[in-house]
Amino acid sequence: MTSENILPSLKSDLPDAPFDVSLRPPLFGEFCGQARAVERLQLLVEAASQRGDTLQHILLSGPPGLGKTTLAYILGNAMGVEVKTTSGPAIEKAGDLAGLLTTMPRGGILFIDEIHRLQPVIEEYLYPAMEDFCVDIMIDQGPNARSVRLNLARFTLIGATTRAGMISSPLRSRFGMNCRLDYYEPQELQKIVIRTAGLLDVRIDDAGGLEIARRSRGTPRIANNLLRWVRDFAQVRTKGVINEQSASQALTMLDIDEEGFDEMDKRLLEAIVHKFAGGPVGLHSLAVAVGEEAGTLEEVHEPYLIMQGYLQRTPQGRIATSKVYIKLGLPVPAPKK
Ligand SMILES: Nc1ncnc2c1ncn2[C@@H]1O[C@H](COP(=O)(O)OP(=O)(O)OP(=O)(O)O)[C@@H](O)[C@H]1O
Ligand SMILES: [Mg+2]
Repeated sequence: MTSENILPSLKSDLPDAPFDVSLRPPLFGEFCGQARAVERLQLLVEAASQRGDTLQHILLSGPPGLGKTTLAYILGNAMGVEVKTTSGPAIEKAGDLAGLLTTMPRGGILFIDEIHRLQPVIEEYLYPAMEDFCVDIMIDQGPNARSVRLNLARFTLIGATTRAGMISSPLRSRFGMNCRLDYYEPQELQKIVIRTAGLLDVRIDDAGGLEIARRSRGTPRIANNLLRWVRDFAQVRTKGVINEQSASQALTMLDIDEEGFDEMDKRLLEAIVHKFAGGPVGLHSLAVAVGEEAGTLEEVHEPYLIMQGYLQRTPQGRIATSKVYIKLGLPVPAPKK
């Protein structure tokens, strides 16, 4: 099965732009980085294929844009099965889920994005489906109401979440494999940028690719987006192959600094230092101070800043580390007692 004939139909309510679809690597061989996760997933596929069995349930977690959805499709292609896609908030009633489950073919993959946002009742409905491949549905109403057990074909559930901590432990324990994706190294992102440039017919040299990669916050989706911007910049301003210099100029014009921090990252760090004396400050106060939603700060901006050692999350709140002061050109304060 090629990516073209399955991917577009799967993209109902997902956030990626339609032209992003063709940028998704359809096979493990084209997926750069995440070596450990990929090795484990490939092993699962091989073992299941050898036994003629279905794939076990897999949970993919990690910050946005690292390739969870992409991997779900790759798993579908590798097993040669259909992938049906939905997302936690899209399943409003148990009946919606029952409809999906009862039409799953044997071995088919049900991909539930943002699985941490499933309602608790729906989640409970999922347990017997995952464990025993059956669902109980209610027939009739009032005094005639009765529950009927329906057997399902053995299917594979792939869940994706940006908030692994919000998944209840009964749900988590029903996944056979829990795969965490981490931020990419610049060299891995460089390969992704060069690959995408090939798909978009953009001419770029290795140094240009690395410059975009270094400033992409370890995230392929950001790398691809920045590449598109740099392409536009080069087309209008420098006319020619994208190199380190044109990439750097283009990204500086977008206010993306050497470390890939954007406006909001900088505003967040400055707010902690200037408005909250370096912290600790609670997430909600910080969100109000920078004019962004708390959830977005927590899911999108903070993980990378924490990973890079600029921010600490403590029970009392967020604290700016000495790296922030150095970056802002301020004297580093003595540690608070
Ligand atoms: N390892 C990779 N190699 C090449 N391209 C990749 C890789 N990982 C992700 N991408 C690209 O990055 C984009 C974002 O990936 P994807 O949609 O799979 O992320 P996600 O983890 O599902 O994000 P979200 O949590 O926001 O749903 C894809 O369009 C794909 O083109
Ligand atoms: Mg996704």
